[in-house]
Amino acid sequence: MTLATTKLTITAPFTTSVQSSPETPLLTVKDFYNSFNFREMVHGNLKGKPPILLQQFFELDLKYIHTNLEANKEVLEVGCGFGRLLPELSKLSRNVTGIDFSDLQLSQAQEIVANLKNVQLLKMRAESMAFRSESFALSLCMNCTLGNMPNIEKTVVEEMVRVTKSGGKVIIRIFADTEAVRLAQYENYNRLGLTNIRDNGSAITTDEGFYSRRFNKTELQELFKKTGLTPTITSDCEAGYLVVANI
Ligand SMILES: C[S@@+](CC[C@H](N)C(=O)[O-])C[C@H]1O[C@@H](n2cnc3c(N)ncnc32)[C@H](O)[C@@H]1O
Repeated sequence: MTLATTKLTITAPFTTSVQSSPETPLLTVKDFYNSFNFREMVHGNLKGKPPILLQQFFELDLKYIHTNLEANKEVLEVGCGFGRLLPELSKLSRNVTGIDFSDLQLSQAQEIVANLKNVQLLKMRAESMAFRSESFALSLCMNCTLGNMPNIEKTVVEEMVRVTKSGGKVIIRIFADTEAVRLAQYENYNRLGLTNIRDNGSAITTDEGFYSRRFNKTELQELFKKTGLTPTITSDCEAGYLVVANI
């Protein structure tokens, strides 16, 4: 399916009712990121810019990295996508590892990091990372990437904790489960021409395999339960939460 030719249909975008999709989705999140030009969406070259609420959320990732990263650390970015954050991470860290399961995203990331000697890209699934325990000082999962991981969110958090060194940090930025975010998501995915946009109460899905979940604070704490950690959860912008767990 090419996204350029998909017909736009929106299912009840402005109601709060819980809708379920009886049919099994044909496409997965991986299919979505292997065909959708996420880079163009973030840079606003694809049918205009995202709603301001989401733009602020995207931009804060970079600002956060810039002001909080300490030099001389080994950093992991889980779901690095087209490599948006990697040049900044490269400047501020000793070694940067970006993992992603999408060939398209990794090939775009490769263009961005081609000349950055301290960055490695690996094709890997976040829920079963092939790293030794305690390999990184910082493990990041930014830009609501954890919200793109249906049914494996807990496993991914546990994996991030496992591969992070004692004294290090796990940092996650994620959409908050509010009506304002939900409406901004609808507006954004509608703008991008995604098909059959629907909401199950906490996550939006589309026929292209896209899935984007919002979380409340209790759900975020719950993700860490098995690890015994209690992360600090703050709202660093209207659209989302910043979750920081000290390992
Ligand atoms: C919202 S994009 C974020 C990209 C990047 N972090 C950024 O800030 O621009 C989410 C990325 O996570 C990747 N992804 C989703 N599920 C994954 C999984 N289970 N394992 C590895 N990568 C995954 C997708 O391929 C996609 O590139």
